[in-house]
Amino acid sequence: MNKLPIPEMIRRAFSALPFAYAPYSHFKVGAALLTEDGEVYTGCNIENAAFGPGNCAERTAIFKAVSEGKRDFLAICIVNENQDGGHDFCPPCGVCRQVMAEFCDPETFQIILAKSPEYYKIYTLAELFPEGFGPGYLKNE
Ligand code: THU
Repeated sequence: MNKLPIPEMIRRAFSALPFAYAPYSHFKVGAALLTEDGEVYTGCNIENAAFGPGNCAERTAIFKAVSEGKRDFLAICIVNENQDGGHDFCPPCGVCRQVMAEFCDPETFQIILAKSPEYYKIYTLAELFPEGFGPGYLKNE
């Protein structure tokens, strides 16, 4: 795939927002993950009364995909809805960046932060997670 389906990814990320379970932060997040074979896996954040077990939208999408046999990813789109119903750019947390580094090529994996179908910005994983510790460090070759 040489051109990212950005409008479709933004649409799919927004489609996950209503499923966000965020009764504590009231900060809803939706994500849409594009696999190399052109499929899109969505995810939302899922909070927990014990706080620690909560999961971010990005990891929900990645874990859904990995659990169905997918490991090659091209891009992820992230959107949010805050308590006032507004949409801000929502950069991935450090834990999600680390999880992305496990499966994605930092130089090519694209992270799309969108406020609307028209208003978005794109980073590579390497830009948001420089000098990340990835699986390459544990290879004995
Ligand atoms: N959250 C995400 O789902 N993704 C991000 O990129 C940042 C934060 C969630 C975690 C928590 O449920 C809420 O947003 C507030 O931190």
